[in-house]
Amino acid sequence: MSTLAVYPGSFDPLTNGHVDIILRGARLFDRIIVAILVNAEKKPLFSIAERIEIAREVFTSQSNVEVDTFDGLLVDYVAKRQAQVIVRGLRAVSDFEFEFQMALMNQRLDAQIETVFMMPAEQYTYISSRLIKEVFSLGGRVSGLVPDLVEQRLRQKV
Ligand code: PNS
Repeated sequence: MSTLAVYPGSFDPLTNGHVDIILRGARLFDRIIVAILVNAEKKPLFSIAERIEIAREVFTSQSNVEVDTFDGLLVDYVAKRQAQVIVRGLRAVSDFEFEFQMALMNQRLDAQIETVFMMPAEQYTYISSRLIKEVFSLGGRVSGLVPDLVEQRLRQKV
């Protein structure tokens, strides 16, 4: 049986920490879906269309990485795609509490789906999309922390 994993998130924007987790997932599972949450309530910097385009471009040569969007409950999307695993990245202990809550809630909602936590390489453990946006908007350098394409797109936003 082939294993299909879903890596959900906002990806606003995609960081090198996300890329690291996706590449690890692509080695561990037969296929991994980067599932971008369509959340009308948040005010994102990048539109859903931009986030899809960026992720597809970054993983263009990675044949077992798919980019998709989802709305509503994550477990419903995972079941609809007939995936078995939710992948989440853990950067620091501070991530754990919320991730643990989500994993257990998702387990209660659908006991068939397993959450697998993966650690990014050490140099990415302090990166978050929120910090990238803040640092860039205040004139700080983000090269090496996000894919080059994201850096280009950030420049176009200013
Ligand atoms: O990148 P993020 O913001 O950390 O991702 C959070 C995400 C998208 C994984 C989470 O908000 C989510 O799964 N949202 C979908 C709605 C849902 O299923 N909520 C219950 C989670 S227990």
